[in-house]
Amino acid sequence: MKAAIIVGARPNFMKAAPLIREFRKRPRLDTLLVHTGQHYDENMSRVFFEDLELPEPDIHLGVGSGSHAEQTGKVMVAFEGVISRERPDLIIVVGDVNSTLACSLVGAKALVPVAHVEAGLRSFDLAMPEEINRMVTDILSKFCFTTSPEAETNLLREGVNPERIFFVGNIMIDSLLFYLERAERSRIVEELGVTPGGYVLVTLHRPSNVDESGVFALIMGALADVARRLPVVFPVHPRTRKMIESARGAFEIPESLKLIEPLGYLDFVKAMRHARIVITDSGGIQEETTVLGIPCITVRENTERPITIEMGTNVLVGADPAKIRREAARILDGAVRAHRVPPLWDGKTAERIADIVERHFPV
Ligand code: UD1
Repeated sequence: MKAAIIVGARPNFMKAAPLIREFRKRPRLDTLLVHTGQHYDENMSRVFFEDLELPEPDIHLGVGSGSHAEQTGKVMVAFEGVISRERPDLIIVVGDVNSTLACSLVGAKALVPVAHVEAGLRSFDLAMPEEINRMVTDILSKFCFTTSPEAETNLLREGVNPERIFFVGNIMIDSLLFYLERAERSRIVEELGVTPGGYVLVTLHRPSNVDESGVFALIMGALADVARRLPVVFPVHPRTRKMIESARGAFEIPESLKLIEPLGYLDFVKAMRHARIVITDSGGIQEETTVLGIPCITVRENTERPITIEMGTNVLVGADPAKIRREAARILDGAVRAHRVPPLWDGKTAERIADIVERHFPV
């Protein structure tokens, strides 16, 4: 059987890599890697192919940036052509980006079964474009592969047939565990002039935090204060870079707040593993810090990954600068939280998915 595996944006690459590695070990499973081109920069895409040893995409749709409708529409039109030429037996989408939504929509209408890896996550916040992408994708998917028990509860509440739900664990952690040792060889910590355990790592790119100058300036003010206690390393997403450039002067950037280019996968894992604190609005980083045991302060009002709070190292502070300062100070003053690794975040998720796929597509 032939599975088309879709990648589009940065957080997709580390989720697709374990699947491709596992599928290629199994003679019955053929893969077709499709890159939509939603992310296209060297440091948002290319470097991940190298670090994660991903094969060259079989098909590149080259859609690039645009409004939500433009980006989603372009992927849909291009992917429809791929389906009619390649006739895949299964379409595998991961995560919640616009490419995930676009390809599941086209696949479902072409009557090709869709498998969604990381199904059932809900922030219950429809102002997040990803929430819409997640909900629509799940409704259309024949296979909903979930990372945690509450994802199943969410899907059942939305009327998803339980026979379509498979609790397989967290695929992103497959990559994290597989590449941890290799990431350790990265020299990024030394190159940045910081010491292991002696810096704070920041990532921000959510529209709600970085698209409005007033909100962004307040967050930057809180980060500048944190940087007065410990150096802050901030790899800047292209979306956030635009705001930093347009709002120059609206906030101070002390020397100990180091703004750098986005990092590749191995460098980022190394930087995360040795950080004293991670401050982020990313989804996946809440999960990776939970497994690594690094305190994570999430600059969001809600999370679709509550297990990282219940069991892990994560705490939500919203975009409130006072809360960011307070939580960072608490951790720097020595507060520690007990944490555990959630069930099935064990590096074997791709294996479980491949087993299920083989079972459902008998020879
Ligand atoms: C997307 C995903 C988000 C994910 C994030 C990870 C959606 C709705 N959002 O958000 O869930 O967490 O990726 O990075 O799919 N840009 C570049 N170079 C690139 C990619 C983007 O310069 O390689 C710029 C573009 O000008 C664009 C902006 O960044 O306007 C935002 O890119 P886009 O793909 O629209 O969404 P992200 O904010 O990256």
